[in-house]
Amino acid sequence: MNNNGQPTAIIIFGVSGDLAGRKVLPSIYHLLKDGFLPSKLRVIGTTRQKLSKEDLLKTIELCVLETDKVCDPVVLKKFNSIFEVINFDPSAKDDYEKLKKHLKELEERDKVCFNRLFYLSIPPQIYMPIVRSLGESGLAKGCIEHQKGVSRLLVEKPFGYDLKSAKALIKQTDKYFKEEQIFRIDHYLAKETAQNILTFRQRNPLFNDTWNNRQIRRISVRALEKIGIEGRVNFYENVGALRDLVQSHLLQLMALTTMDLPSDIYSSKSIHQEKIRLLNSVSLQKLNKSSLIRGQYESYKREVGNPHTTTETYVKLTLNIKSKRWSGVPIVLETGKALSKKMTTVTVEFSKDIDEKSNELTIRIQPDEGIDIKLFVKKPGFDNQVQPVMMDFSYYQAFSNQAHPDAYERVIIDAIRGDQSLFASSREVIRSWQILQPVIDRWQNSSDDLVIYKNDSLGPISQDLVN
Ligand code: BG6
Repeated sequence: MNNNGQPTAIIIFGVSGDLAGRKVLPSIYHLLKDGFLPSKLRVIGTTRQKLSKEDLLKTIELCVLETDKVCDPVVLKKFNSIFEVINFDPSAKDDYEKLKKHLKELEERDKVCFNRLFYLSIPPQIYMPIVRSLGESGLAKGCIEHQKGVSRLLVEKPFGYDLKSAKALIKQTDKYFKEEQIFRIDHYLAKETAQNILTFRQRNPLFNDTWNNRQIRRISVRALEKIGIEGRVNFYENVGALRDLVQSHLLQLMALTTMDLPSDIYSSKSIHQEKIRLLNSVSLQKLNKSSLIRGQYESYKREVGNPHTTTETYVKLTLNIKSKRWSGVPIVLETGKALSKKMTTVTVEFSKDIDEKSNELTIRIQPDEGIDIKLFVKKPGFDNQVQPVMMDFSYYQAFSNQAHPDAYERVIIDAIRGDQSLFASSREVIRSWQILQPVIDRWQNSSDDLVIYKNDSLGPISQDLVN
């Protein structure tokens, strides 16, 4: 096994939660199997529950990322030797002291100084007290006893609830962690297909001269899901589709598609520089019935047990970008749950004439990952008929024997390496909330525009409406 980086301790807060069980722990197992993790590694899961490691592991599908979903006994043994679960009350100061002592003992035993990765796999409402206690206990400083080693904080979206709370959260976190220590996870950015957007744009000059408002009439970014809220009642009732999907995932995909190409597409600094420049020029199209649509799937109220809830499970909105390159091109973002298909795509429609059949370039983020281009050709025969055909690149066909890493594997590896390219910066977070705040304000005042759509339909824009 390679030595991939500095000795590292990953401390997972909320190890018994859904995300840790479904994504974080299986990703660590899989990375361990493929030899991508540092040779000196500890994974410490913390939970309020009195739960043993064995009991926790019985409840999760650790090897779900394996092709055969079966664990390799050798790797499982290794995983067991580096993983432990400790009982931890995030509100008890003593528990942070105990954790500090425990890390020190492990460091002395392994004769190393660990880089510390604090992974907050917990609801955003309880971030702040943990961040504060990590700071006050000195844990945020890394392994200071040895005067080396770094400590990093990994947090899950949503980063705040609105502009005001996001600013407050960032301000408070900044007291204890520097920006270069904070890794705000947007797992969409870590998807292989999203990472390919910049590479595709940079390496295919065919599109360079057409990537502007002279040739493009509309760009749409969609994340449609078949699943509903999957039992995450509390989380979703506090969040809704705008905060859950639009504020980070969709705005980030939109930014990768429309920002000027960074001078170095692999440099975190250049990427964030161009991204914030783009976000600063984005605003909502004047809000009206066609530029802002919100919906709720039919069974939602029953599912959350609240007949009066106005939480949206569907959003479609239109943005404008004020720049020489993009002015006049509507950018449509759409997301919804309990729809008839699962599909995350970025579609670029060429041709300025709205009635003219146009070339379309679609980046299929998931599923059926790939890129297709709609072309128009002459249909064989004596009549001069034109027919649309597809030119299609499929990841599956092109790289059939190369499974691509799960987004969470990428998140963990980049956080271990300290590479922030695929994470959201504080400026991006604040700017995203600034863009969306008018929608939040409008929805706070009235829910008249909420459309109830049938489950398993195309959402509010189809005819499958309940009211
Ligand atoms: C999460 C949202 O960030 O992304 C979920 O909280 C959503 O509501 C999920 O279902 C979708 O992720 P993916 O990778 O399945 O598209």
